[in-house]
Amino acid sequence: MIGNSEQMLNTFSLIRKLATVDYPILITGETGTGKELAARAIYEKSKRSKHRFVSINCSAIPEDLFESELFGYEKGAFTGAVRAKKGKIEMANKGVLFLDEIGDLSLKIQPKFLRFLETSQFDRLGSNTTLSVDVRVISATNKNIEEMVEEKALREDLYHRLSTFRINLPPLRDRGKDIHTLTHFFINKFSKELNVKLKDFTVEAKENMLEYSWPGNIRELINKIRKAIVLSENHLISSSDLDLECNQDIIKPLKEYLWEYENKILLRAIQRYNGNISKAADKLCISRPGLYKLLEKHGIEMRNTEKILPHEKRKKPRFRKTIVAVLIHDGKTIKGEIRNLSSKGYHFISHHKLKGIKDSRCIIQWPSIKASLKCTVVWEKHIRNMMHLGLSL
Ligand SMILES: Nc1ncnc2c1ncn2[C@@H]1O[C@H](COP(=O)(O)OP(=O)(O)OP(=O)(O)O)[C@@H](O)[C@H]1O
Ligand SMILES: [Mg+2]
Repeated sequence: MIGNSEQMLNTFSLIRKLATVDYPILITGETGTGKELAARAIYEKSKRSKHRFVSINCSAIPEDLFESELFGYEKGAFTGAVRAKKGKIEMANKGVLFLDEIGDLSLKIQPKFLRFLETSQFDRLGSNTTLSVDVRVISATNKNIEEMVEEKALREDLYHRLSTFRINLPPLRDRGKDIHTLTHFFINKFSKELNVKLKDFTVEAKENMLEYSWPGNIRELINKIRKAIVLSENHLISSSDLDLECNQDIIKPLKEYLWEYENKILLRAIQRYNGNISKAADKLCISRPGLYKLLEKHGIEMRNTEKILPHEKRKKPRFRKTIVAVLIHDGKTIKGEIRNLSSKGYHFISHHKLKGIKDSRCIIQWPSIKASLKCTVVWEKHIRNMMHLGLSL
């Protein structure tokens, strides 16, 4: 791991100390700050490095499969279990088990995993025999873990058990001159890899790198440098080769900074609560209609993936697939679909006749969204004796 900022030197010292003991560690930090790298560093410096570092991502595997992946199973434990299989816990015996995205560990598995943490014992699925292992557990998350405990998404007893020791990796923007140390390291590395002459950065690029917020942290820095080496046409890499948005020389009107900050907070709140407007509004201490108004002002759109994208980054078509939705008008529920028929916006399409709906407010609802919107009837068409009605939303 590269770094010589005070925060990183403290982190390295903590890593060295924690490598000598066997307690669980929780590593937190924004995406791309090096959580997995830190977990591997602890493992490599420990006596467990002769054995395996087994990693499992709690958010990437469906709940049912996850249990068998983690604990393993016996032959016939479930349909398709034609032979017995070791789980990740067993594979990590004498080594390290790294649980990435621990905040996404399902509530069903949490008590079983806690039992394993407390006793070092577990049962394979479909087995009556309890197995004992010697595994060190390191977990990581980029979510606010205390908030997850507060919201009961993570059991408090499990949280305390997992976080006997905690390493919080600072975001790159707070690591000061580390940015230049890392840049120097990666430019050397990639120039060799790509077999190109070593390049340097313009003074402005160096300053802008310190200014930039690096939301993707070191992962983003790596990608930007790799791209800039290939794209820059001369010996010096400029800010635009690095695709850096900021420019220290330009002072923008204050309201632009305020707008940018508001935008960032809105995105963060909506993402944190997975598109749940009521929760986000509650935490921001504003009303739901107030939050909708702000989202509209910023051109932030909710997507069927429950993720949102700022207006300028939105890809077209906005919905890759048709979404089944219902429209609630005047107490009546009308089934239909939401489609992105034109670049102008969304359309609710129904086979049902919708009387008196034009220019009125309706509630539109699909699995992740519930919104109150004014609807304008944009077209009515008879297809195969059925009325198709489109509303622009
Ligand atoms: N201090 C560092 N020195 C060198 N490389 C680093 C450092 N920190 C991170 N990296 C590199 O940055 C990339 C991202 O690191 P890593 O995958 O460990 O981040 P992460 O915190 O686990 O991210 P995520 O939350 O998205 O999973 C990797 O290629 C890693 O090697
Ligand atoms: Mg990771």
